[in-house]
Amino acid sequence: IPPPSLYYPSFPSGQQVPLQSQNESWKFPKDFWYGVAGASYQIEGAVKAEGRGPSIWDRLTRVPNYVVTNDTGDVANNNYYLYKEDVARIAALGIKTYSFSLSWSRIFPFGSGAVNEAALAHYDDVIDTCLEYGVTPMVTLYHWDLPLFLQNAYGGWLSDKIVPDFVAYANLAFTRWHSKVHYWFTVNEPIVFCTNYPLPEHYFTKTDIPSIQQKYYCGHNVLLAHSEAYHVGKSINASLSISLKHNGGYKIPRTNSSADAAAVQRAWDFQEGWFSDPVFLTGDYPSSLKSYVSTFLPAFTDAQKEKINGSADIYAHDAYTSDFIMAPDSGIEACTKNESHSLFPSCYNTTKLYANNYWALGPASDPGSPWLNKATDWVPAFLHYMQDTWKPRGGVAITEFGISEPYEELRKDLASILIDPIRSSYYVDYLKAILIALSEGVDVVGTLAWSIYDNLEWSQGYGVKFGIQYVNLTTQERYFKASAFEYVNMFQVYQEK
Ligand code: NOJ
Repeated sequence: IPPPSLYYPSFPSGQQVPLQSQNESWKFPKDFWYGVAGASYQIEGAVKAEGRGPSIWDRLTRVPNYVVTNDTGDVANNNYYLYKEDVARIAALGIKTYSFSLSWSRIFPFGSGAVNEAALAHYDDVIDTCLEYGVTPMVTLYHWDLPLFLQNAYGGWLSDKIVPDFVAYANLAFTRWHSKVHYWFTVNEPIVFCTNYPLPEHYFTKTDIPSIQQKYYCGHNVLLAHSEAYHVGKSINASLSISLKHNGGYKIPRTNSSADAAAVQRAWDFQEGWFSDPVFLTGDYPSSLKSYVSTFLPAFTDAQKEKINGSADIYAHDAYTSDFIMAPDSGIEACTKNESHSLFPSCYNTTKLYANNYWALGPASDPGSPWLNKATDWVPAFLHYMQDTWKPRGGVAITEFGISEPYEELRKDLASILIDPIRSSYYVDYLKAILIALSEGVDVVGTLAWSIYDNLEWSQGYGVKFGIQYVNLTTQERYFKASAFEYVNMFQVYQEK
């Protein structure tokens, strides 16, 4: 394993981050929540237990090489059986919040219709276990594991038939758990799962929607389903906090040219703006998105816009890193042609010039590139941007942040696995950056570290590790990494008592 300095040039090799207060004005407010997160398919395992129906990920993990390692979530972290231990461990560490997702196909094995009571009893107990340990449960309804039947029946998120099915599922969850769960997230990172359409077509029922249009149909149905579910939840219990989990990096122009500045704005519009502008600003897509993908971006009715606008209580953002944005080499003509919008619109180019995400390492050798590897260089700016642009009434939350430490998967002995200085430094720097934003008046309300432990990193398999705990997948033993203590310690040092 190369020393950190080879793959993370400005990491202060061997240096421990000082934990004493560096600035008297840095404080996490008393009610600031901090926790850890996981998601059903990535951690639960037990895919055939107690009446669970299949999800698209049970199928996708069987498509050869769709997951680079051909790993599956069949067993994963066995959290379906070990959740009591998992909650006890985070409580013992001093973590007060646990964010997890429900498996839709456990609750509705066919996606809609018959309910599986065993699944409800299971999640009753997960939630009650949290409460017994003084841990606040936060629930995500949809973290990518769509019931396979809905994909096969009508193309999943490509069809508006998903709206009533999702709303029925949300209704059941809100009705059953609204008195115990205050924070709810409807869907996780729609940019990501919508951009994953088209799914490998051979394995799923075909749809009439051409592949280049699919992600926009998916996004459209997400916004309809989310907003309906939001209003159903609020009508069951008006005090619930219900939001959609947005995602994306902070966008920095690569140069100070006006072309790069314009590319940055397009990047905001095509990423965050795609979902955040409808939910927080207008009930509709950014106007540039509408003009660039005019021929196939579906349109909302006025009644739909009214329901979408304002359908989130906090701005929940999964913010791992920042991106440098450049005007596309070929000019923006391609961007204005609808057919160029298959996966990544050629309206801007993105590069990551630093190792905040190992798997996203950019051209580090690019001469003249600034190395912005410190969260303090971009997180405060991002938090200001979220607050100023989308003006969420309940504040901003970082609902996922974390890092897969370079070469962690190559370490064989436990002692070196459990010392993760880059992840520790990432969390400490990021939380300091949040302290700066708080001291400057940004209403940041909470953070969730991704992840509670190493788990199935989707198409990357188990080799890419984001956990603050290591899991021996043979014995299912869990071990805290150093970063787990560093994360909690930041709140012990800086939170108002
Ligand atoms: C976003 C996703 O929500 C989560 O499932 C994934 O594991 C992490 N980011 C890390 O990539």
